[in-house]
Amino acid sequence: MEAAAVRVDLGERSYDVWVGEGLLEKASGFIPAPKGSAVAVITDENVGELYLETLERGLDPLDLEVLVESVAPGEGSKDASVAVGLLERFARRGLKRSDMVVALGGGVVGDLAGFVASVYGRGMRVVQVPTTLMAQVDSSIGGKTAVNLPQAKNLVGTFHQPAAVICDVALLATLPTGVFRSGLAEVAKYGFLDPEGPAASWKGRADDKADAAVAVRSCAAAKAGFVVEDEFDMKGVRAFLNYGHTLGHALEAAGGYATYTHGEAVAIGMVYAAIVSEEAGIAAEGLSGRHRERLSGLGLPVKPAEPRPAFLELLGPMSLDKKVTRGLTMVLLEAEGRPRIEAGLDRDMLALCYERLLGEA
Ligand code: GLY
Repeated sequence: MEAAAVRVDLGERSYDVWVGEGLLEKASGFIPAPKGSAVAVITDENVGELYLETLERGLDPLDLEVLVESVAPGEGSKDASVAVGLLERFARRGLKRSDMVVALGGGVVGDLAGFVASVYGRGMRVVQVPTTLMAQVDSSIGGKTAVNLPQAKNLVGTFHQPAAVICDVALLATLPTGVFRSGLAEVAKYGFLDPEGPAASWKGRADDKADAAVAVRSCAAAKAGFVVEDEFDMKGVRAFLNYGHTLGHALEAAGGYATYTHGEAVAIGMVYAAIVSEEAGIAAEGLSGRHRERLSGLGLPVKPAEPRPAFLELLGPMSLDKKVTRGLTMVLLEAEGRPRIEAGLDRDMLALCYERLLGEA
């Protein structure tokens, strides 16, 4: 399978998202680092153990000075103190802003490494090498970087486009089922936003690499389209990518980020958004049923598990969600392929929709 590139066309910040099989071993062909320069590979202990050696072999032809920084796996590493620790080690090791960061890992590593790269020396280049489905189809593309604050996820960050994104779909076959499924929710989201694209019908089989490459490429192209139209998330276009995330983020927060994977929470959040679309008279009945069918077909949950958080517990985080600009705002669907942002949604109606989500109304 040849690697195919999706171009993210942003003028002087343009770059390619490479999608194919075995790309880690051929990394030197995709990483725009000058021969003999230094790269800091940021990874986590689990991913590093699995893939660091392959990546280093792939970089060999470039004759780079490779520095490895490994953080603890998990959301806890997306923390300001971890970022500062990395920056201090960069300084001690004499990294220059002309050197490069390579992010080898899932969303946590990608966001953290992107953030560190964006502020060290006022910005150095970063190449994203996403190792999870979620990161390949969403977080590695588009230049959003972040660390968390106790008050909210992703509250501190920058826009810093990568110099390249390398999606090796061979890595998906060995992902733990839960981690893979989490990414499937984002794939399904692209399908709801574009019912004609391959993401809408992908069966979600990681071991069919040709099929996975088609789905990942299509999602990457979709993401690139939103980013090109609204790079800095100011025009209400990139915001469509938050479909399902308003309730999704609130569920994640209510469960202390331990009850659901991000994708599971977003899957439930998309069913909820479809119910709200119906209840608000924006979509015809049937949208939420089609959501349930599609998402449960991918092995994703379609309602919160016991013990279910009360709606009032979720309302605070839903309103705090940084995508909310005026009162309660959500991305809704008029139908598959027709997203729209709806502000000022009535709380009683939203509470009733939560009951419908639980199957209690
Ligand atoms: N993950 C949403 C965005 O990149 O805008």
